[in-house]
Amino acid sequence: MQEKSIKYEEYTPAEDTFFLAEFVEKLKGKSALDVGSGSGYLTKLLSQNFVFVVGTDINFNVLKNQTYKTNYLICCNGADAIKCDFDLIICNLPYLATEMILDIATDGGKEGFEIPKKIIDSVYGKLKFQGKFIFVTSSLSNYQKLIDYAQNLGLETKIVAKKKLFFEELILIESIKN
Ligand SMILES: C[S@@+](CC[C@H](N)C(=O)[O-])C[C@H]1O[C@@H](n2cnc3c(N)ncnc32)[C@H](O)[C@@H]1O
Repeated sequence: MQEKSIKYEEYTPAEDTFFLAEFVEKLKGKSALDVGSGSGYLTKLLSQNFVFVVGTDINFNVLKNQTYKTNYLICCNGADAIKCDFDLIICNLPYLATEMILDIATDGGKEGFEIPKKIIDSVYGKLKFQGKFIFVTSSLSNYQKLIDYAQNLGLETKIVAKKKLFFEELILIESIKN
């Protein structure tokens, strides 16, 4: 039987990146973390308005050759290797509902919940009191399950923006640690 190969390539900034960027560029603060930094586009954007900015990605090669360069990058799942707290954490999650993870940049696993759940679990402890976690998901995924999950963890969670595309609606979710 032929094994399916997993794709590990840099994600070129796309509609979902720009959707999150539009929201994030209005925010200011001391510390921010970009989980799943990819090309570094959002990490670099954060460094315009935040004093201390870190990017993480599970894909080492992507971090090594980022198109948009910043200083503090860590290769890990979510925020697992980080030992400090942030005012803001953002993530353009791999949110697509897929049976298997074949492209780590986009595939979210069953219902688009599996990978996002792993990332929420990882960032939860790295948010300051009143800190915000803002992430992208889609109408094609079970976004209500994600909202309920974050809410049950104790994060005050709501949809803050939506954007209709040709085949899906992008959804931006904000979770605040109270
Ligand atoms: C949709 S891309 C977004 C890239 C970039 N932030 C943007 O918006 O253009 C998702 C990124 O998350 C990374 N990623 C996937 N699973 C991850 C995990 N468990 N922890 C950290 N990064 C992950 C992928 O390697 C990919 O670079």
